[in-house]
Amino acid sequence: ISRQLGMRSLVLVGLMGAGKSTVGRRLAQALHLPFRDADHEIEAAAGMTIPEIFAIHGEEHFRDGERRVIARLLQEGPIVLATGGGAFMNEETRKRIAERGISIWLKADLDILMRRVRKRSTRPLLQNPDPEGTMRRLMEQRYPVYATADITIDSHEAPHDRVVADIVKAL
Ligand code: S3P
Repeated sequence: ISRQLGMRSLVLVGLMGAGKSTVGRRLAQALHLPFRDADHEIEAAAGMTIPEIFAIHGEEHFRDGERRVIARLLQEGPIVLATGGGAFMNEETRKRIAERGISIWLKADLDILMRRVRKRSTRPLLQNPDPEGTMRRLMEQRYPVYATADITIDSHEAPHDRVVADIVKAL
């Protein structure tokens, strides 16, 4: 499969809690490709955590860094890339991904997303009195855009390894 992909990267998109990082890491192992996590790369480049970037510089600054980091990672050659939930909403980023990769939307239900993000509540967008309401709103705003990804994988309750197998099958 890696040979068949040529120079194209596999780019995971979808909401917070969809499993992009975990699935991405395992997918990369399965395909013998390097794995990169855009959120981690942004943190490394900025020398601070994402909550710190949001708090000190604001979301717009974060989005700018996110766009540049993803452009750089896609130039590195074929990788599996987990993006932050908002990355695919940027038109330029979508164009870059379309040029250099295959986008894969990990789709999950509200219940599952909320269960997963509750475990690790470091996401600035969810630091408010109604994170579930926020998540619903993000689903409404983002699903039409995520739906333009090349491949959609319904992750439901499936264990991550099943999701990886479903992606490999869909490639
Ligand atoms: C965001 C998702 C986060 C992170 C930032 C903003 C979003 O990444 O990039 O907190 O806008 O949905 P994950 O999807 O990996 O949680």
